[in-house]
Amino acid sequence: MAEITKSQHSEWSSRFAFILAATGSAVGLGNIWKFPYITGENGGGAFVLVYLLCIVAIGIPIMIAETMLGRRGRQSPINTMSILADEAKANKNWHTVGWMGIITGFLILSYYSVIAGWVLSYVFKALTGSFSGGNGETISALFTDLMASPVQQIFWHTLFLGATMLIVARGVQGGLEKSVRFLIPTIFVLLVLLVGYAMTTGYYQQGLDFLFKPDFSQIDSDAVLVAMGHAFFTLGLGMGAMMVYGSYLPQHVSIAKTTLIIAGADTVIALLAGLAIFPLVFANGLEVSAGPGLIFQSLPLAFGNMTGGWLFGLLFFVLLFFAALSSSISLIEPAVAFLVENKKIKRTTACIVMGLMTWILGVIVALSFNVWSDVTFFGQGIFDLLDYITANLMLPIGGLCIAIFAGWIMKSKDSAHELAMEKPQFYALWKFLISYIAPFAVIIVLLKGVGVLG
Ligand code: PFF
Repeated sequence: MAEITKSQHSEWSSRFAFILAATGSAVGLGNIWKFPYITGENGGGAFVLVYLLCIVAIGIPIMIAETMLGRRGRQSPINTMSILADEAKANKNWHTVGWMGIITGFLILSYYSVIAGWVLSYVFKALTGSFSGGNGETISALFTDLMASPVQQIFWHTLFLGATMLIVARGVQGGLEKSVRFLIPTIFVLLVLLVGYAMTTGYYQQGLDFLFKPDFSQIDSDAVLVAMGHAFFTLGLGMGAMMVYGSYLPQHVSIAKTTLIIAGADTVIALLAGLAIFPLVFANGLEVSAGPGLIFQSLPLAFGNMTGGWLFGLLFFVLLFFAALSSSISLIEPAVAFLVENKKIKRTTACIVMGLMTWILGVIVALSFNVWSDVTFFGQGIFDLLDYITANLMLPIGGLCIAIFAGWIMKSKDSAHELAMEKPQFYALWKFLISYIAPFAVIIVLLKGVGVLG
């Protein structure tokens, strides 16, 4: 097969642009909203350790593999997998991996957009000074009121999804690149400031211990599954987002090096978020296991009580909104790229179709926090179930398929050529991790997590 060296959609303007966009996809609600609350729910340090292990042993090798497959195929995930299966003379059905990714992205975006809507509503609350002088009770009430209101949640969800679809409609460079350029550095600075504030609460050490002193009696196989699922979620792996971003990557860029930078930035931001939040949680007698409301109930307390907190609070939620936006565009880009390639429709039309479908499912999620809060399937509410199925099952299964394809199906000469690593030992290490460690770890954690291995 003749090698395709350019994507039909257009390319990132530089290596730096790709790093920004991929970091934009990785850094999002997962780091700042989800990581702290699942760490709280799963007992702290031991969970963090397992999560870090999953990032290194499973996440990074799969991230390299996924980006590499994307750049070699140069199309949307479904077509990329068909092309690469052809190249490797393997079964055509490998393109199902692309299909599964598209469905996963759509499902994740439906609830991601609702949570990002909460963030937007907090931008508004910060603007109107709702946090100022707040205590545990008044701040918690702000959150409970939002949860109880379907109208508000649907309104903010609509706004967020509209913004996402607008950016995606404008295409790779116009839309995706510009929005992330200033975002990541500013988020980083703001989180460092918040950690600085957390140090003044007198509970910093307790927060530090909670995050980094592992107590293995606190975790079970389900927690390990959540940690692994989160490694996929936070890096944005297993559903074709990195594949599609990889397909826009110029041929000369080193995939392994850029991946390390992206995964490093993502991890540092999550840990900083934990360091900023837990001291506040302890200082204000909040529950570490408060669930999805954790950051909304803890951070505004800091903003409401520190000098200049009004401005910091506003800035923080605005930035979190942008971080969510740069992730949400990557959740829907694989589906849009596919519709444009295979259904020959315009980017704008593809965005309208996907946007509408996502909006409807998002409304159902928004209602699951109030009107339909007692609707459960397998003992879980709609939001919890969607989150569990997508993050803990679908992303790892997608990642597993990618690992098997890159490690066992694709010819070594092709992956070695595409990765073009400086030293053969680096390639050998990656090949070992992707062929053995990552797939076996994912299989065992999945089977144990869902109870098949007892
Ligand atoms: N990584 C994003 C976050 O942490 O918020 C979420 C995400 C983006 C998940 C892209 C999956 C994905 F493909």
